[in-house]
Amino acid sequence: MRFTVAIDGPAAAGKGTIARAVAAHFGFAHLDTGLLYRAVGMKGGDPVAAARALAEADLSRPDLRSHAASDAASRVAAIPEVRTALVEFQRDFARQEGGAVLDGRDIGTVICPAAEAKLFVTARPEIRARRRWLEAGGDASPESLDEILAQVNARDARDTNRPDAPLRPAEDAVTLDTSDLSIDDAVVRAIEIVKARIDPR
Ligand code: C5P
Repeated sequence: MRFTVAIDGPAAAGKGTIARAVAAHFGFAHLDTGLLYRAVGMKGGDPVAAARALAEADLSRPDLRSHAASDAASRVAAIPEVRTALVEFQRDFARQEGGAVLDGRDIGTVICPAAEAKLFVTARPEIRARRRWLEAGGDASPESLDEILAQVNARDARDTNRPDAPLRPAEDAVTLDTSDLSIDDAVVRAIEIVKARIDPR
């Protein structure tokens, strides 16, 4: 069976956690497409050449979760040739036998416009910044909540305002706002949405 779940949304809205849980629930493969852009950003040199030469091993670098990597990712992600170089890999992953979940910014709009299930996972910027701040240690975090909020807003602005594949919900995506949901409740809701597409009766 081929079945694609496209999950898009801004940073720290919970889409990674939701994507992993949905994939585990249905036994689908999962691809965090942000890792592709992070790996290209961290390779250095010409980003277009880096995207064309991207290999499996580049995706397991230990520093891909750093702030430096997310910042570099959102810069190289605005380059159309970088995006083009990564399309085929993502589409092949999406159409593999057994089902696939991809999370990112443009999965439902550009990479897999025909995906069987599409979710747009979002949350208010203040909530997303607080989650990042707590993950980084709260009061022990090296950055203040205000600094993290500024980073979240800057990355949202870059992702939303770029001309090529900007962050936006697909017309047929179901929006899931996780601002006032626990992660468990958000996962339950996402599974319900996907289940309704697999078995629409
Ligand atoms: O999701 P994550 O925070 O890892 O993504 C890092 C950056 O990569 C995003 O801010 C965005 O600029 C870019 N990205 C993208 N398209 C995707 C996934 C990530 O442009 N499908």
